[in-house]
Amino acid sequence: MSFAIPQHVAFIMDGNGRWATRQGLPRLKGHAEGVKTVQRVLEQLAQYGVPYATFYAFSTENWKRGSEEVNGLFEMAQTYFTTDLATLVKNGVRLKFIGDRTPAGKLPLALRTIMDKAEKATAHNTKITAVFAVNYGARDEIARAARALAQQGVEATPEALEAALDTTGIPAPDLVVRTAGEQRLSNFMLWQSAYAELYFTDVLWPDFGNTHMQAALASFTQRTRRFGAVPEATATAEATEAKALSVAA
Ligand code: FPP
Repeated sequence: MSFAIPQHVAFIMDGNGRWATRQGLPRLKGHAEGVKTVQRVLEQLAQYGVPYATFYAFSTENWKRGSEEVNGLFEMAQTYFTTDLATLVKNGVRLKFIGDRTPAGKLPLALRTIMDKAEKATAHNTKITAVFAVNYGARDEIARAARALAQQGVEATPEALEAALDTTGIPAPDLVVRTAGEQRLSNFMLWQSAYAELYFTDVLWPDFGNTHMQAALASFTQRTRRFGAVPEATATAEATEAKALSVAA
């Protein structure tokens, strides 16, 4: 099977809660299973030669969930970025985080420290960059970037804003995958996804396996990306038609 290989695939990992409920398990078990999917997807994308993958792990809106679930998610993240760090390093994964990591963002200090350390420990890895969106919301990210530019007295041009976003230096996603049936972006990478191809599947994130990833890549392979331009063949045909019309007139 041959696919067009995107530079960057971003995931909205939905359906962990439903997966757990269907099995009669607590919601956190669904998230734990979701972490396994992250690991599986990362290994698969690295194998395909996809250089960047982003995972929406905790949104600025997820604070509305019960404290047990929120704290459970933070603990899971702390474990993943410490216990599994050796595996990530072995697999050549470079970690990056996007989202509000300032003290005002209210993420636990222990988690912020672990995130800083994990970024530093993996900074020289080159196989794949795994970006985790933690305490991330696109509106919040854009507002923080605009505020930073204003403080520096820099005009908020698209280029200046782009450079002030959390994702500076990371190419925009070519493909955004959302699992579990919902067809929306939910405040995820709104700036960066301006020209991303969107792929929605009913599969719940814990069940998202290699064949589902292949289906997403197969769909991406079939897309014609125009980035707002007119495709060459259409442009030529229209120009010829316009010429014919002007001759007839
Ligand atoms: C959405 O499913 C999922 C989340 C809000 C969290 C996603 C987090 C993980 C997969 C674990 C974190 C990963 C790492 C590596 C730190 P949902 O709970 O909204 O599912 P539902 O819509 O079925 O209730």
